[in-house]
Amino acid sequence: MIQQLENLLQVSDINVSFGGLKALSNVNLSVPSNRVTAVIGPNGAGKTTLFNVISGFYSADSGSIQYEKMDLLTMPAHSRSKIGISRTFQNIALFPGMSVLENIKLGAHAQLKTNVFSAAIYLGSAAREERAISERIYDRLLNLLELEDYADRSISGLPYGIQKRIELARALAGEPKLLMLDEPFAGMNTAEKANMANHMRQIIERTNITVLLIDHDMESIMSIADSISVLNFGSLIASGTPSEIQKNPAVIDAYLGEE
Ligand SMILES: Nc1ncnc2c1ncn2[C@@H]1O[C@H](COP(=O)(O)OP(=O)(O)OP(=O)(O)O)[C@@H](O)[C@H]1O
Ligand SMILES: [Mg+2]
Repeated sequence: MIQQLENLLQVSDINVSFGGLKALSNVNLSVPSNRVTAVIGPNGAGKTTLFNVISGFYSADSGSIQYEKMDLLTMPAHSRSKIGISRTFQNIALFPGMSVLENIKLGAHAQLKTNVFSAAIYLGSAAREERAISERIYDRLLNLLELEDYADRSISGLPYGIQKRIELARALAGEPKLLMLDEPFAGMNTAEKANMANHMRQIIERTNITVLLIDHDMESIMSIADSISVLNFGSLIASGTPSEIQKNPAVIDAYLGEE
């Protein structure tokens, strides 16, 4: 049966420049719902810039991005998390003085239903909501990501691989529809990579999440991605299944050129 994939996100003809540098040139990218789409490419290819445009940290010079039926580029960054877009950062961006649970809870606050006004007239509702969030995080995320033993520990001093998993938990805490991961495997040793890939696979199997992830090397994403797009010097040079991408001459060239 041929299934028509619906795109959760559609990036069309995006251009971004910094001074004279063209960071993205006419980039198009389809991100089908409930699939894992990967963006790969050498250093400086524009991968993080693309994430920054989608999440609203950078604005595009031209082009458009459709998310569900919405025109994303007209929305401010903070509204984009409210409509289900969540991301992690290339460098760890946790609050070192706070506990693991507190860090993860920050990710849920974008979705909080109680606002200041209703909290004031309905005393206790905010506290109840906080408690419900903690319970949900314990039940679903700490468990799933095997972080229960760390909940009350402070971030500082925790191993790198654990911190990356905490960031993933924080991004998931808001129950996003679109999860964007910027180099979730970076800096990990082989065992940590395998562990992370395992946890990601479980999340993908157990939720209806759509994942867009960036990584440097093809190897770690081969087993996870349904499709891969390749950026090189700000331009898309290939899109396809992992096996198509692996044998694509332009992709091989771009990577050999990097060495
Ligand atoms: N805020 C900025 N100001 C100026 N130049 C920028 C800015 N952000 C990115 N760039 C430049 O845009 C280009 C693309 O950068 P980007 O961070 O998107 O690459 P990347 O593919 O994520 O690379 P890496 O694999 O090293 O993370 C680079 O030349 C970078 O120096
Ligand atoms: Mg980057």
